Amino acid sequence: MKPFDINNYGNLSELAYPPTDEPLRQIYFISRLQGILAKKREKLGRNIRFSVVTFGCQMNAHDSEKLEGILLEAGFEPSDEENADVIIYNTCTVRENANQKLYGHLGQLKARKKSNPEMLIGLCGCMMQQEDILDYIKEKFRFVDIVFGTFNVFMLAELLCRRYEENKQVIEVLREGTRSYENDLPENRKYSFKSGVNIMYGCNNFCTYCIVPYVRGRERSRTPEDILDDIKRLVKDGVTEIMLLGQNVNSYGKKYMDESSIVAENPDYDFPTLLTDVCKIDGIRRVRFMTSHPKDLSDKLIEVIRDNPKVCRHMHLPVQAGSTRVLQAMNRHYTRERYLEIIDKLRKEVPDISITTDIMVGFPGETEEDFLETVDLVEKVGYDQVFTFIYSIRSGTPAADMEQVPEDIVKDRFDRLLKVVSEKARERVGRFKGTVNEVLVEDIDSHDDTMVTGRMNNNTIVHFKGCAEMIGSYVNVKLTEEKGFYYIGELAGE
Ligand code: SAH
Ligand code: SF4
Ligand code: F3S
Repeated sequence: MKPFDINNYGNLSELAYPPTDEPLRQIYFISRLQGILAKKREKLGRNIRFSVVTFGCQMNAHDSEKLEGILLEAGFEPSDEENADVIIYNTCTVRENANQKLYGHLGQLKARKKSNPEMLIGLCGCMMQQEDILDYIKEKFRFVDIVFGTFNVFMLAELLCRRYEENKQVIEVLREGTRSYENDLPENRKYSFKSGVNIMYGCNNFCTYCIVPYVRGRERSRTPEDILDDIKRLVKDGVTEIMLLGQNVNSYGKKYMDESSIVAENPDYDFPTLLTDVCKIDGIRRVRFMTSHPKDLSDKLIEVIRDNPKVCRHMHLPVQAGSTRVLQAMNRHYTRERYLEIIDKLRKEVPDISITTDIMVGFPGETEEDFLETVDLVEKVGYDQVFTFIYSIRSGTPAADMEQVPEDIVKDRFDRLLKVVSEKARERVGRFKGTVNEVLVEDIDSHDDTMVTGRMNNNTIVHFKGCAEMIGSYVNVKLTEEKGFYYIGELAGE
């Protein structure tokens, strides 16, 4: 039984006071919301529609699935952003353009809110964990209805109840180490056949450019029991592909924490052990994980990948920069040489593995020589895909106070890097042309509804002729045409 299952608890909304313990407290508020929505439905003759818009990474997207799970339990109807009465923006703040994106969306909503009295706007996610941004939103966007943060996703029903019942703006952004509840929440999974599973929250690495540790808090690993139970439940529900999620999965385990204290210790149970145990679960066909930090990537992990065909042949291994000097200034704890050594070892043990990375251009103090080392590293490694970013100042991080590289120089380096990246990736991805590969069909192609889109084990995307019935199944596809980062293919039968 899943603890957060509203059907197990009678009608809690009749209690005189909200219970204090989670998840009971939230189940109580979900029942209350159900009552509020029933009245609204009666009055309006229609459902109240919601949309949760995700701006961030996989972890952010997974939080959105939880928000949607809560809203569905409460009786809201899913819809797109355009037709929604209740819109929740789950924000990201890793770069300044993520912030700007939110302000753009908010600017457009003011008029809509005037014409729809049922309209409620909620803001949550990483951006809301920053004091100065909260102040800015309070001042500039007074029409926002509820605001919460990364530590109180679980409180959505409670905050909505307060908004409906008290009819005023509700801002409740919890800080790290206060009351929190992260484990069992209802989820509305985007895909029925694959799912992300949090294995840890937060980050302890404090790379000098990065805001994540400040907005997601200290690293805390969930217990293996909780994770494996979750996955077994997902398998029963039809899931065959699992993505283990954490900011630095390689440092998983040893001490298992909740928000504020150690709940269990087992120094021998690390990420490779967890990965092995996940692969043992019957019904799981593919296991992915994200993200790996090079400083903690062990030989043991490489061996587990090599020996377990269920572990996908894909490693996302952000390098950030190719110069040891810059890596040091970034507080990454590895050198250019060490990184290349890991790549060699990976390729030696798992020859067909696809390797992807994140690279940042224009970190404070980056010289032309440093930059050329990054270009050289891209050429040496031969990535299947590189996500390139222009360094963005995050206030409060150490790099914000370092000497910045002029914008025009950064832009020029960025363009030069992009060119090398796309040439190399085309060369690399092209190596599978003409071969037959197993593809998990994920969706109808967004540009052509006679085609479907799926992923190979190594995460490469393939489009081919197909139909909705194929979604969620594994099929063999011949890769006929190579398009840079993806393939066009055709069904190859058994
Ligand atoms: N935990 C992951 C990354 C999370 S953020 C890791 O350590 O690899 C995703 C990517 O955003 C990072 O890899 C980095 O390349 C980029 N990023 C983070 N902070 C940034 C900043 N201030 N400016 C530009 N890019 C940034
Ligand atoms: Fe940010 Fe570094 Fe943590 Fe990744 S490892 S989330 S880049 S601080
Ligand atoms: Fe963005 Fe937060 Fe993820 S800042 S990248 S959504 S952890």
